[in-house]
Amino acid sequence: MFKETKPAGGQAPQTKRRNTVIVEIDPENIDYEKLAFCAEVVKQGGLVCFPTETVYGLGANAFDPAAVDAIFEAKGRPHDNPLIVHIDGYGMLDLVAAGNPDEMDKLERLGNKFWPGPLTVIVTRDSAVPDSVSCGLPSVGIRMPESLIARELIRLAGVPIAAPSANLSGRPSPSTARHVIQDLFGRVDVIISGGDARVGVESTVLDVTGPVPTILRPGAVTLADVESVLGSGDLPDWRIPAAEGEKPKSPGMKYTHYSPDADVTVFDGDRAAVRNRIARETFSLKEGKCGVLTTDGGESFYKENAREGTVVLSLGNRDDMLSLTHNLFSRLREFDALGVTAVFAEAVPATGIGNAVMNRLYRAAGGKVINC
Ligand code: TXA
Ligand code: MG
Repeated sequence: MFKETKPAGGQAPQTKRRNTVIVEIDPENIDYEKLAFCAEVVKQGGLVCFPTETVYGLGANAFDPAAVDAIFEAKGRPHDNPLIVHIDGYGMLDLVAAGNPDEMDKLERLGNKFWPGPLTVIVTRDSAVPDSVSCGLPSVGIRMPESLIARELIRLAGVPIAAPSANLSGRPSPSTARHVIQDLFGRVDVIISGGDARVGVESTVLDVTGPVPTILRPGAVTLADVESVLGSGDLPDWRIPAAEGEKPKSPGMKYTHYSPDADVTVFDGDRAAVRNRIARETFSLKEGKCGVLTTDGGESFYKENAREGTVVLSLGNRDDMLSLTHNLFSRLREFDALGVTAVFAEAVPATGIGNAVMNRLYRAAGGKVINC
């Protein structure tokens, strides 16, 4: 019923070696015997990777401090970057949230519209949530995922599941089970293979503990979506790094992230100017293999104008922003698989869901953006 495959190569931080079992579950027709096995592993303090509509998660019982520590170890994650707690329904909310009335009012209104779905809400943490989940912060991020496999796993485990994205720290997040296997085989107990993530980038992280609801990480739920429910909201410019010595509001935002092995540069500005500039750049690369990340329709331009041998991949259709989020991390990993050493990426408009795309691209590029 279960299958094992070969571990991935690469240099990953040392961790306890685990016998990883891959469990295939059809999201359209859940095999509850298999899922009950996975839930049992969670109950026993194990590490279970599971699909969600955003990206795959690396989960453990949120109330088991040893299991939570094991998450950080398996990912090689810094101990000051807190985890999101996933719940299967409102029944688990009281276990995790302190119950501040203003926060709960906002959370309920948001939940009515966006849960289950790709929105994480930061509220004051219940003291029962282990310190290590929130890395000592007084708050906790809570999400009710849309993915039925995820919610049923939580329900069967009977506990909220703490889960970061199921990638090695710093690598592109995993939008398919294959990505999880590449990064975490041998480092976790179970990997549920349950289809590709619909959204493909991580949830919107929204902090409602302050006077103005603030988006700490852009995702598929946009600022306009938040404002439509709460009447106000803020999306601080994610291009500006926290000043020296200043504590970032969301600890995760300070780390270089989403990095493929290839060196990424983003080109922004007028589309024709961007394309001409990228085409020129492919000729000036001294060594290594070039990749270009474009959108539908751009491939033919580069075929004619870029250096021969350039790997050109399309992110998707600019008129369908979710196609761009859906493909983003897959494309970044594809460039690595094809031996590309330098990726030149076209920017897309940073409006609405475009913020989520550009935020990830910007960080994959370590902030290297050339305005054309
Ligand atoms: O879509 C998602 O959110 C996925 C799936 C698995 O649910 N999870 C995910 O987790 O992306 P992770 O750990 O890779 O990213 C969590 C982000 C980090 O940037 C972290 O700093 C922030 O959320 N975060 C978590 N708890 C927080 C808190 N209490 N206050 C501020 N930021 C928090
Ligand atoms: Mg992550």
